[in-house]
This record gives sequence, structure tokens and C-alpha cells, in this order.
Amino acid sequence: MGTFGIGIERHNRMDQNRNIVLIGIMGCGKTTIGAILAERLGRPFLDMDACITERHGPIPELFARGENVFRDVESAMAAELGARQGLILSTGGGVVLREENMVSLKQNGFVIFLDRPVADIIETVDTTTRPLLAEGAEKLHALMAVRYPLYLKHADAHIRHEHGIEHTTQEILDLLAELP
Ligand code: S3P
Repeated sequence: MGTFGIGIERHNRMDQNRNIVLIGIMGCGKTTIGAILAERLGRPFLDMDACITERHGPIPELFARGENVFRDVESAMAAELGARQGLILSTGGGVVLREENMVSLKQNGFVIFLDRPVADIIETVDTTTRPLLAEGAEKLHALMAVRYPLYLKHADAHIRHEHGIEHTTQEILDLLAELP
């Protein structure tokens, strides 16, 4: 059997109904890597922020009505998507701020913290679509200081994303293949 066949066999070892949930600070690669994982695993991919935008309009507009307006919508989306099965889910960077969100996402989900160095993120992130970065990219360091312990607390797996998308994706696939 070729490499392809072996790969499929290994991936099938993971419970196909369990969601795979990516958490981490904005710009850490959740959406990019989530979409690639979904393709490789043959699973549906949903980005929570995209789902929110589709239903409620642009995120900057929700923030303009108050951060809590966005956070309430985000919590409702976490409850809705967390109750589904078999998804690859990417989340917004602040999803860990409310415990209830993580309870929703973990009920049927394996949570992976994508840990990318802030310096790398600052080089690549588009600050114009991120309301929280309106004050400047330095704000990312402050957000990371508060959130890092929360990402660690809620993660079932901690993956450092430092050596490129392909490398990190493969690391996650290898990890998933070893899960019972
Ligand atoms: C946020 C991150 C954003 C988005 C919103 C708030 C945050 O998602 O949910 O702007 O609090 O860090 P990304 O992590 O996809 O940028």
C-alpha cells in the first residue's frame, strides 16, 4: 500500500464525529491551517467569525455597537457549532475569554492551541479587519499576555507554529492520527 493509503488508514483512527477546534491569538493561522486540515481529512470546515459575519454582518460593525454585542453573538455561535459533529472549526482569538464558550466547544471537540510568535504575526496580519488592533500591532503583545494562560488552560494539545504552514499542518495530522 502506498503512502496515501497508509495516511488515510491512520486518519481514520480518530473519532470522525469529534470536532477539531483551533484556538489562538488573531493571525496565528487558525483559518488557513483549519481549511487545509479539512481538505486533507475530508471534513467540513467552518470559521466561526465567517459564520458570524454571514449571519450578523461585518465584525467591525458589531464591535462598533460595543464589544459585548460581538461577544454575545460569538457565544451563541460557539453553542451552535459546538453542538455539531465532525467539523474542523477555527475560532476568533477572544473565544477563550468566556468559559461558557469553551464548555460549548469542548463538549464534542478536541481543542488545539496554535501558538505562533507575536513577532511573526505582526509581520503578516491585516490590522484593518481586526478592530482590536486599531490601536496598533503592539496591542497584540498585551492581548497575548492576558490570553496565553487561557489558551493553555483550554487546550487539549499545544502546537507551536514556527516553521511554516506545511510543517505545522503535518504536525497536527500526526497528532490526530495518534489519538484513540
Ligand atoms: C478577536 C479576534 C478576531 C475576531 C474579533 C475579535 C479577538 O478573530 O473574532 O475581531 O478578540 O482576538 P481572529 O482571531 O480570527 O482574528
